[in-house]
Amino acid sequence: MSSQSKRKAVTLTTLMAMKARGEKITALTAYDALFAELISTAGVDVILVGDSLGMVLQGHDSTLPVTMADMVYHMNNVRRGNNGALIMADLPFMSYASEQQSLQSAAELMRAGAHIVKLEGGAWLAESTRMLVERGIPVCAHMGLTPQSINRIGGYRVQGRDPSQAKEMIDEAKVLQDAGAAILLLECVPVDLTNAISQALEVPVIGIGGGPGADGQIMVMHDMLGITPSSIRVPKFVKNFLPESKNGIAGAFEAYVEAVKGGVFPGPEHSFT
Ligand code: KIV
Repeated sequence: MSSQSKRKAVTLTTLMAMKARGEKITALTAYDALFAELISTAGVDVILVGDSLGMVLQGHDSTLPVTMADMVYHMNNVRRGNNGALIMADLPFMSYASEQQSLQSAAELMRAGAHIVKLEGGAWLAESTRMLVERGIPVCAHMGLTPQSINRIGGYRVQGRDPSQAKEMIDEAKVLQDAGAAILLLECVPVDLTNAISQALEVPVIGIGGGPGADGQIMVMHDMLGITPSSIRVPKFVKNFLPESKNGIAGAFEAYVEAVKGGVFPGPEHSFT
């Protein structure tokens, strides 16, 4: 990467300022150095080294088989290609079952270059969140549809449609914010619930399948390039940005940034009421 194209690093302070001024945050997954370079150079604010790699790279039918060794390997690759984006890394299934284990797993990912770690779950993660944050490890909470709990949830479906479940989700999001979570990732919830949570929290809420009201948007890179593996059903909230690109894959990333920042994506056709 030439020094000319070096971007100023995105930090948590940058994201807080973006929320304050109403600028949408853009995020995409990446799992290797080349795509990390293309995505960050296109101006995407946050790269997620997601455990979705188990499905889009490894061919599994869920994220459950992904290990810490997998995450560290991909994290190192993304770090080498990154051009200034904030790098978030998933703690994989069963790597944060206890507070002590959360610390060890998160420390491994931070040593590999992560700037923040993401944990799936609600208020039960408050103590782990507090412990990590107190020790210098920023935390993104992931609520709504949490794919690591797919066997309990019973399918990849919209969460929080029931008013009591929606209220519980708002309360638990506040608990995690109070415990120190710096970002909330909200997956597959109705637009009204996304709006309520984004307004209730001071920290940025990044949505996927939550409608346009979140403070930012994230997508799995393979989905927005139209190359979702055939074994995975393409969710309603996905848009393929490649056809409208004037510059191949790099142009699709730029089109995604423009659409999210311009409030054009996601539209009603990508959202749940
Ligand atoms: O692992 C992942 O890619 C994710 C996204 C669904 C946001 O958590």
